Amino acid sequence: MSAPRDPGFESQIEERLLEALILPDPTADGGAAVLLEAARHLILAPGAKRARPRLVRLFGRAVEAPTAALMDLSVAAELIHSASLLHDDVVDSGTERRGQPAANIVWGNIAAVLSGDLLLSRAIQQLGAHPQPVTATAVSCVADMSKAALLEVRARGRIDISIQHWKNIAMGKTGALFGWCGRGAALLVEDEDAAQRFDQCGQHFGVAFQMADDLKDLTAVGANKTRYADIRNHNPSYPLLWAAHQSTAIQQHIEQAWSNGAVKESKAAAIGAAVLESGAIEQTWTQIRHHLEKAFTALGPYANRPGTTELAQWAAGLWKRFSNEPAPNALQKGP
Ligand code: FPP
Ligand code: MG
Repeated sequence: MSAPRDPGFESQIEERLLEALILPDPTADGGAAVLLEAARHLILAPGAKRARPRLVRLFGRAVEAPTAALMDLSVAAELIHSASLLHDDVVDSGTERRGQPAANIVWGNIAAVLSGDLLLSRAIQQLGAHPQPVTATAVSCVADMSKAALLEVRARGRIDISIQHWKNIAMGKTGALFGWCGRGAALLVEDEDAAQRFDQCGQHFGVAFQMADDLKDLTAVGANKTRYADIRNHNPSYPLLWAAHQSTAIQQHIEQAWSNGAVKESKAAAIGAAVLESGAIEQTWTQIRHHLEKAFTALGPYANRPGTTELAQWAAGLWKRFSNEPAPNALQKGP
């Protein structure tokens, strides 16, 4: 997923991220060097999309927030995201991230977790010069992400969770930070109405993004992961859940596969084929459309500002890359 670009802003973000990842005093290293090394390994990897800094910039443009302040928030958002990935790979026993060995594989779980903690502290440091609610909302966003990550772990292997429970997890895991990118930008100029609207917009955007990500696992379109990983990893993705709620046969097939430990390639492929046949892809696109519509409806009077029109273009680009279906109305209204 890539947003409309602003090369000047983007290159400054890279410089600011580098600055945030250096030791203030290299001679007084109390262990921070290895933690920063692990963080640099992740953050400076070529596959990083910098989606959150772009969201901050676009939402910020819509309320004419000052560029220097948006830069601080962008760096904070990317650091929070990076911390969450370092922790996520420990939680998930992930082995690869951005096409290279994950930090937990290179430096071990302890260093990866503590590196994430250090990044969180550096993220909060970026926000000190701005109105207090900017920091307060960033902190509660981290809390929401953490709670959602735990719910996700608990949902693993369970094809009986409700669709609403899945959405709550996606809102917390991905939507909370997308939402904060907008909320924080609006709080810079103390526009409470925009803050609420942008938060809602970002949250729905996050759910749509998570659904699109789940689809990639089934269709292998735009994916850099192996197909059916969610089935093999006992991960109740949105399309799997929907298919299981529609068909008792699919539900039982998945339950049976997940109760027996490792899922063989052939079993995963058979379940994948049944899920594809159930109409789960079309349903997931319908839901992505629904959440994108909600995202743009939430903008209300801010929908046609510079920045938010680019947001719609971004979503339309995402749509075209993955779907042959007509784009939602909200996206067709773009410039
Ligand atoms: C990647 O998603 C992970 C997240 C979006 C967030 C994970 C959040 C935590 C581990 C909570 C801790 C939060 C902070 C801020 C320290 P994914 O697992 O769906 O995608 P993946 O396949 O790329 O891992
Ligand atoms: Mg993960």
